[in-house]
Amino acid sequence: MKIHYDLIPEKTKNIETKHRKVCSPIPHPDSIEIMNDLRLYETDSMHDQLPILWDSAKDYQIFDGYGNCFIDLTSTIFVANIGHSHPRVVEAIENSCKKNLLNNYYYPSLERRDFVKKLIEVTPKQLDKCILYTTGSETTEAAFKTMRQNGRKIDNDKIVILSFDGSFHGKTTGSQQLGGKEGGKEWIVNQDKDIYHLPFPTEWYVKDSLLDAGELFLRDLKTLEENGLNLKNIAGIIMESYQGWGALFYPQSYIDAMVIWAKENKTLITVDEVQAGFGRTGKLFGFQHYNMEPDIVCMGKAISSSLPLSAIIGRANILNIDPSMNSTHGGNPLACSASLASLNVLIDEKLVEQSKVKGKMLEKKLLSFQKEFPEIISYISCKGLVAAVFFVKLGTNELDIELVDSLIYRAMLKGVNSVRTLSGTIKLGPPLSIPMDALSEAIDVYKECLIELLEERNNV
Ligand SMILES: Cc1ncc(COP(=O)(O)O)c(C=O)c1O
Repeated sequence: MKIHYDLIPEKTKNIETKHRKVCSPIPHPDSIEIMNDLRLYETDSMHDQLPILWDSAKDYQIFDGYGNCFIDLTSTIFVANIGHSHPRVVEAIENSCKKNLLNNYYYPSLERRDFVKKLIEVTPKQLDKCILYTTGSETTEAAFKTMRQNGRKIDNDKIVILSFDGSFHGKTTGSQQLGGKEGGKEWIVNQDKDIYHLPFPTEWYVKDSLLDAGELFLRDLKTLEENGLNLKNIAGIIMESYQGWGALFYPQSYIDAMVIWAKENKTLITVDEVQAGFGRTGKLFGFQHYNMEPDIVCMGKAISSSLPLSAIIGRANILNIDPSMNSTHGGNPLACSASLASLNVLIDEKLVEQSKVKGKMLEKKLLSFQKEFPEIISYISCKGLVAAVFFVKLGTNELDIELVDSLIYRAMLKGVNSVRTLSGTIKLGPPLSIPMDALSEAIDVYKECLIELLEERNNV
């Protein structure tokens, strides 16, 4: 399978609905030169997503500047939760620009004060301090550092960090090691031997174990112990609120057992909310689905619905451990203004509630999609406006990466923009503001494309 799509304009049928417009070959012939130049100057790693030229994006739609309009099911990889280019965010950035303060390191600013005050106000009470950064990876690195430093305060050997198979926490050296994706880490050579990964408790893993999910957590810890790990040395556990690639949530009893164990063993729990935060799952924060109080929370992406900003929040006694935890661009005043506006919009427009309500409708729609193709669609996960549709090869449990890849490419030709997961799942994460009929229309496009692809396969 090709990692990079050919930059060849494909013939399309004209489409015009309330939500999409396709009026030219895609990618548009005039966009090819720009994209080719990008490929010339940038590395391959920058060019494995769908080849649509983004000229502008508004609310739930992306425009290529040549008259084509796409329904966006990505929110630019979970960033634009309140919708692209929300007027209140644009205004906040413009106002901030006009003041002539484009950056200020971590010297004090009104913009940062206003944002962090609001952020701490909306997060659970025990989380009373924050540090602002720029990217999600920086926050997981910071959580890693913080958990280990706090562990060492208790005992010099309390340095182990637990994470989960299949998890994703970023692409920098530390964050990638925290992640549980197979492969790709060989380059680190001397990997941190004190990072361990537990199996992720998928529905099927729990079922196969014949145990309650809580017992399974304790059993898997015991396995680590039997393999030589002193469990007392576990300084911290890092978990995503849901595992990204498949939008997979933890069973509540698993979290309950983990929280109790962590408390008894003075182990900190970090929840990585970089993807799940700010209404995505139908709660302000994804961890609020679980009855838990994390010690540290990592946030990023949709914090601003626009400019790069991220944060870790936690209790003062934990986060204050390292006086060097700050960075050059963390808390940029424009990004803080945008984030404050975005958070206010999220609340004022009741987008968290909308995410929950639309999520229920989306789930219904996806389950009926699955019913029509039970041999190919093996699993649906959906909470709020994050969902994943698992496609398998006929008669197997093997995820069908190629089918999904062809499917999302074809959907692009019909005016739907998707995340390319390269994992055999269609991952859905539209702006929370998307009208339900637009979302429903996009799912129908997938259905149409699947029927076409299966027909073509049968005719080969
Ligand atoms: C759960 C999670 N953590 C961390 C990151 C890394 O964030 P960034 O790409 O901003 O460094 C991501 C990005 O996709 C993520 O989904």
